[in-house]
Amino acid sequence: MTSTWLIRGARMPGGGPTDILIRDGVTVEVGTVLDSRGATVIDADGLIVLPGLVDLHTHLREPGREDAETVETGSRAAALGGYTAVCAMANTDPVADTAGVVEQVWRLGRDAGLVDVQPIGAVTVGLRGEQLAELGAMATSAARVRIFSDDGHCVADPRLMRRALEYVKAFDGVIAQHAEEPRLTVGAQMHEGEVSARLGLTGWPAVAEEAIIARDVLLAGHVDSRLHICHVSTAGSVEILRWAKSKGWRVTAEVTPHHLLLTEEYVTGYDPVFKVNPPLRTAADVAALRQALAEGVIDVVATDHAPHAVEDKECEWAYARPGMLGLQTALSVVVKTMVEPGLLDWDGVADRMSRIPARIAGLTDHGHDPAPGVPANLTLVDPTARVRVDPSQLASLSRNTPYAGMDLPCQVVATFLRGEPTVLDGKAVR
Ligand code: DOR
Ligand code: ZN
Repeated sequence: MTSTWLIRGARMPGGGPTDILIRDGVTVEVGTVLDSRGATVIDADGLIVLPGLVDLHTHLREPGREDAETVETGSRAAALGGYTAVCAMANTDPVADTAGVVEQVWRLGRDAGLVDVQPIGAVTVGLRGEQLAELGAMATSAARVRIFSDDGHCVADPRLMRRALEYVKAFDGVIAQHAEEPRLTVGAQMHEGEVSARLGLTGWPAVAEEAIIARDVLLAGHVDSRLHICHVSTAGSVEILRWAKSKGWRVTAEVTPHHLLLTEEYVTGYDPVFKVNPPLRTAADVAALRQALAEGVIDVVATDHAPHAVEDKECEWAYARPGMLGLQTALSVVVKTMVEPGLLDWDGVADRMSRIPARIAGLTDHGHDPAPGVPANLTLVDPTARVRVDPSQLASLSRNTPYAGMDLPCQVVATFLRGEPTVLDGKAVR
């Protein structure tokens, strides 16, 4: 089945209104389209067209915790958030540390057909940090894994980290590090600082993140490999990244929407929806992260979408799992924290949420502006709309959004995956 779509009068980031004709999965014409025969027309007056968003950090929970999220439900949340591709983290059960498991996730994604699901492979067997996983077998599998991460856990052993960095060079892979020195975060419940002292909760100090980032950028520079730092959360980390980049080392980094908006002050109500790893930090950290994203010291926004079932999340603070939903609200939070204050324009959003993450992940079909012959992976957004976040209306199987009841800017109106709509009029097509 093929179809033809004409997007009428959408504004390209940094440009004026244009028509986009899509046929057989690719954009065939951009400009003023005169002949719209056979096309379904979408009136995109006032809408912005972005290259489909790409998430480098999504937890889909399948296999193992299909009660919290499945590949299909997470894919639907992603499409509704404007995404056309997501990278699925390896901390599933079983862990995605073999060709078999990454191929299973890849197939589930293909069958759901709502976004491209690119599996991330574990760095170490069982995420235990003791022995390298079958990196080569995952890279050459049908899933073509390029990003490897023990996310949820830090690859703490520097020798293992060095070997992983060296190993993935053979296929232009990248190691995505969850930077947390485990000896400095034993029993940690929130950011270590004045608020943790006041609440009497064990702190997670900024230095636990910064020490690992400093070590790993040095390692990446030493062996000339690609390193990606997950969910950067402190001002000190930004300074280390700035220095590493000034050396020309091949280091990239991401920040989450929640670390761009929320601070440790939210923890004072002891609502576990605000428990996340790394923890919410100070207002000064938030300001530094926004500035770093604006300057490109932090390359991309990644959601760290982390669905958790009610029994794992709505319990006493100390027992609640860390993590929060992100896919369906990411673009709105980025508009609120970066576009509205004038730190980024829409072209900058397209870079940080689509073009650059697509490049880091090696997803060659994604991250392209509409142009003849290019796969039509696109998102239409209404920049003037407002949405009130209602957890019960989200597509995720879980409900742990920290933005419940918040009024956020912008709305995804339509998403196209290879020329077919996955979202139309703000609603999932399937
Ligand atoms: O808050 C988090 N949740 N941080 C992580 O690193 C893992 C994630 C999860 O899997 O729930
Ligand atoms: Zn993590």
